Amino acid sequence: MEIKLIKSKNSKISNVDYDNLGFCKYYTDHMFICDYIDGSWQNFIIQPFQDLSLSPACTTLHYGQTIFEGLKAYRNQEGEILIFRPDKNAERFNKSAERMCMPKIPEDIFIKSIEELLSVEKAWVPEGEKNSLYIRPISFALDPYIGIKPADNYKFMIICGMAGGYYSEPVNVKIETHYTRAVSGGVGFSKTAANYAAALYPAVEAQKEGYHQLIWTDGKSHEFVEESGTMNLFFVINNQLVTPPLGDTVLDGVTRDSIIHLSKLLNIDVDVRKVSVKEVISSLESGSMSEAFGAGTAATIAPIKSIGYNNKKYNLPEISEKSISNTLLNKLSNIKFGRELTELNWLKKISK
Ligand code: COI
Repeated sequence: MEIKLIKSKNSKISNVDYDNLGFCKYYTDHMFICDYIDGSWQNFIIQPFQDLSLSPACTTLHYGQTIFEGLKAYRNQEGEILIFRPDKNAERFNKSAERMCMPKIPEDIFIKSIEELLSVEKAWVPEGEKNSLYIRPISFALDPYIGIKPADNYKFMIICGMAGGYYSEPVNVKIETHYTRAVSGGVGFSKTAANYAAALYPAVEAQKEGYHQLIWTDGKSHEFVEESGTMNLFFVINNQLVTPPLGDTVLDGVTRDSIIHLSKLLNIDVDVRKVSVKEVISSLESGSMSEAFGAGTAATIAPIKSIGYNNKKYNLPEISEKSISNTLLNKLSNIKFGRELTELNWLKKISK
C-alpha cells in the first residue's frame, strides 16, 4: 500500500491555545483520504486538511450510508506517540460496515493509514495526562443517486483533532423511557450517523431540564438500561461493578471492554448482566449504589453526579480517591501512557 504525501505549506499549530484545548476545537494540518472504486480501495493520499466537494445527490446526504470510529493517541513522558487499541476500532468499523452494506477496510490498511497520518502529525499530539489526539476514521457513500440501494463508490478518510476533556464536570443523566435509541434487529451496535441523529431531539429535551445526557433503555419494554449514547454505562451496586450486556442494541465500546478486562486484573468484582431501571432506582434510594459512570473513548471514564427518573433527581455520592472508577481511571491512564507495562498489547507506538 503506497500512500502519497502532499504536505501542507503552513502549519496551523501556532494557533493552538494549550490551556483551552476543548474537544476537537483544533484539527490537525493533514488528513488521510482514499477511494473505493470498482470493488477495491485505492488512491491513498495524506494531504492538507481541506473541505470536500460532493454532488448534492450524494447518497450519504440523503440516505445516511456512513460509519465512523473514534480512538486516541497519547504522548508519553519520553515524547513517544502511542495509539490505544486501534485493532479493536478496526474490528468494530468493519462490523458497522457490514451492517450498513458498506465495503470493509482490511485491518492492515486501517492501522497503516492511522500510523502514517500520525507520523506526519506527531507534533499535534499534546502533552498532559488529560490530553490526547482524537482520531476520527470515517467512511461514506459517494454515488450521486436518488433511490435506495447500497452505493458502489465510497470514501474512507481520517481526520484528527486535539482533545482535552469531553465533559468538564461529573454528568447529570436522565433515564429515558419514552424515546428509543435502538431496537433489536436495528443498527444500535453500529457506529453510524443514524444512531446519533435520532438521539438529538430527546437529548436536547433533556438538556432543557439541566441534564447532560440520557440513559437509554431497551426499545421494547423500557425496563432495562442500555447505554448513554456517548458512553457505555457502569454502576457500583453493593460493591460490585455491573454493566449491561452488549447484544445488537448497544455499542461495543473499547473503553468498556478495557474496563471489564482491567477490573478482572485488579480483582474488582465485575458482572456483565441486565440492569433494570427498577434496580437502578431502588439502589439509589437505599444507598447501595455508591458509584455510576460512563465509559467511552471521548469521555474516558465520566463520573455520573445524578440520575433523573420520573421527574425526580437522585444524587450520587462524590467520587473519592479510592473509588472503583478512580482506581480504574488511574490504571487505564497508566497503561495508555505506557507507564505500566503489561502483556495486553494494547499500544501501537509510532516508530517513525
Ligand atoms: C467517541 O467516544 O469516540 C464518540 O464517538 C462519541 C462522541 C460523543 C464523540
